[in-house]
Amino acid sequence: MKVLIINGPNLNMLGIREPEIYGSKSYDELLEFVREVAFGLGIEASFFQSNSEGDIVDAVQEAYGKMDGIVINPAAYAHTSIAIPDALKAVSIPTVEVHLSDILTRERYRHFSYTSEVCIKTISGEGFEGYRGALEVLLEEFKK
Ligand code: DQA
Repeated sequence: MKVLIINGPNLNMLGIREPEIYGSKSYDELLEFVREVAFGLGIEASFFQSNSEGDIVDAVQEAYGKMDGIVINPAAYAHTSIAIPDALKAVSIPTVEVHLSDILTRERYRHFSYTSEVCIKTISGEGFEGYRGALEVLLEEFKK
């Protein structure tokens, strides 16, 4: 099973950015964590990070016919972008949304996610572990 892990704007700043919210581990450490989890589950993981909405749309479109699942942390675009869920709908690849922090207990403008409308599950507030949960959900879906 092939899974694309997409991380949106400012997640490349993990470890530096608001560590009291996002933790002290870096983006590279997140990739290392996800790589190990994926390996353990027998999943072939590839990674994409961008600070630009259009680049994320392009990455979703490029996954068409190549990927069996997508894990996406759209970051702030979860709350603003319609183009990203439109792209996910267009390719019809099972997708799980992850947020490191619990978006439901933060500022009101983070409570709603457009992306969640097209995802089979949204995992929020579990830190790096959320990515493990997302891969497990996709694996179960793939086995159906
Ligand atoms: C985030 C939550 C978003 O609200 C925020 O804009 C981010 C990160 C998270 O992982 O907790 O950049 O997606």
